[in-house]
Amino acid sequence: MALDIRTLTAADLPDWLLTSRIGFLGSPEISAEEVELRRPGIDLDRTLGAFDGDRCVGCFRSFAQELTAVGGAPVPATAITNVGILPTHRRRGLLTAMMDRELRAAKERGDALATLISAEYPIYGRYGFGPATWVSEWEVEIGRAGLDPGYVRPGDRALRSGKGRFARITDPGGRVELVDGAAVRELGPVLHERLRAERPGMVSRSERVWRLETGEVRYPSTNWREPFHAVYRAPDGTVDGLLTYSVDERWESKLPENTARVRTLLAASPAAEQALWHYLFSVDWVVRVASGFRAPDDVLPLLLGDPRAAVVKTYADWLWLRPLDVPRLLSTRTYPTEGSLVIELHDAAGLAGGRFALEAGPDGASCTPTGRAADLTMDIGELGTLWLGDESTSRLVGLGRVDEHRTGAAAVADVLLRTARRPWCPDVF
Ligand SMILES: CC(C)(COP(=O)(O)OP(=O)(O)OC[C@H]1O[C@@H](n2cnc3c(N)ncnc32)[C@H](O)[C@@H]1OP(=O)(O)O)[C@@H](O)C(=O)NCCC(=O)NCCS
Repeated sequence: MALDIRTLTAADLPDWLLTSRIGFLGSPEISAEEVELRRPGIDLDRTLGAFDGDRCVGCFRSFAQELTAVGGAPVPATAITNVGILPTHRRRGLLTAMMDRELRAAKERGDALATLISAEYPIYGRYGFGPATWVSEWEVEIGRAGLDPGYVRPGDRALRSGKGRFARITDPGGRVELVDGAAVRELGPVLHERLRAERPGMVSRSERVWRLETGEVRYPSTNWREPFHAVYRAPDGTVDGLLTYSVDERWESKLPENTARVRTLLAASPAAEQALWHYLFSVDWVVRVASGFRAPDDVLPLLLGDPRAAVVKTYADWLWLRPLDVPRLLSTRTYPTEGSLVIELHDAAGLAGGRFALEAGPDGASCTPTGRAADLTMDIGELGTLWLGDESTSRLVGLGRVDEHRTGAAAVADVLLRTARRPWCPDVF
C-alpha cells in the first residue's frame, strides 16, 4: 500500500502522538488526558503525518519562531520538531519527503531559514542544514573549585560551610531571592526577551513553554518534580537573572553527596551571572554542580579559583540552521568592518542557491544576486554553519568544505562573520 503524507485532522492526533512517543523510544502508550493536554501546543495545519493505510507511521511538525541574528535583529524562522518515524517504516524516504514538503512551505511563507535541534548529528546535513551553535556542559566538584573563603561577606552562611565567594567578584549590592513557578512565568519572559534582543542564536520562547517549564502544564507521562527557582535582583530591583535547578538527594556514610543540576540560568549582566553561580555553589549539602547546556565560552570555569575543576561532560552541536533566503540573512546581520565577498551557494533542493555579492560594513550591509566571479563556493548548509559567526571559514576551506577562489577571501569572511562571543541557544524545542 502506498504511503501517504498529509496534514492532520483533529481525530489523527492520538495516533500521531503515539507515533512520536514510539519514535523517541518513550513508553508506547498515551492517555486521553495527555492527548488533550498536548493538543493546544500543536498547530494541525503545520503538522504532518505519514500514513500507511489508516495507521500513522511518521510524524513531523513546525512552528513559527524568531532567531536572533548577529547584531540583535530577529529573523523569521520555521522551527522543526517532533520528527519521528516508526521503526517498522524507517529508511523508506519518509523523513526526506516530509522535510522537502516543509522546507518548500517555509520558503513560501517567507521565512529566512529553518531551525532544528538534531537528535543525531548525521541526520540533517543532507537537507541543507548546518550546525550553527554548540553547547558545553560542565560538572564541578565544589571542593576542588578553589573558591576563596576570604571573599565571604561577614555573616554570610557560606563562611561556615567553607564555600566562599568567587575570587574577583565585585558585589554591586544585588540580591538573590527564591521564587515560585508563578513568579517565573511573570518575570522569566521579560528577562528572556531582553537577552534574546542581544544574544545571537537565541530563539523566541512561547508562553506555553514557560508553563511547561514551571509545571503549570504537566504531562502525566513525565515525572514532574517542582524545581527550585531563584532570581537575581539588581540594586534597583530589576530582575537581571533567573536560575532554575533541581538537587539529587544522595548521602553516603552520613556525608552529603548531592548534585545541583541547572535547568536554566539566564543572566543579563556579569553581576547576575556571578551571583547566581555563587548562590548555587553555596547551597549547603550540594557538593557538585552540573551546569546544564551552556554556551561553549560560558565564563563558569573562569569564575573558579581552579578552572580545571569544571570538567567538560558534553561538547556538542545544538542549533542547526537551513538558509532559505540568503540576501535577507546576509543583509540582516551586522558586520564589524567594511568588506565585500562574492559567495556561490549550491543548493540541491533548489531553494536558496545562487551567487550573491555581499557588501558589508559597520553601518549596514547589502546582499544581492550577482554575475561577478565567486570568491568562495560552498553548499547551503555551510552558510547555515557560518551565519551566526561561530565557525571559521578558513577552517572549512582546510577541510575541503568551502572552496576559496581568491586568495585571502576566507580570511575576509572570518573577519566579517565571526563574533567576539559565541552564539548560544539556551532553548530546547
Ligand atoms: C531519524 C529518522 C527520523 C529518519 O527517518 P527515515 O524516514 O528513516 O529517513 P529517510 O528514509 O528519509 O532517510 C534519508 C537518508 O538519511 C539517512 N538517515 C536517516 N536517519 C539517519 C540516522 N539517524 N543516522 C544516519 N543516517 C540517517 C538514511 O540512511 C537515508 O540515507 P540515503 O538517502 O543515503 O539512503 C528516523 O529514523 C527516526 O525516527 N529515528 C528516531 C527518532 C529520531 O531520531 N528523530 C529525529 C529527532 S531530531
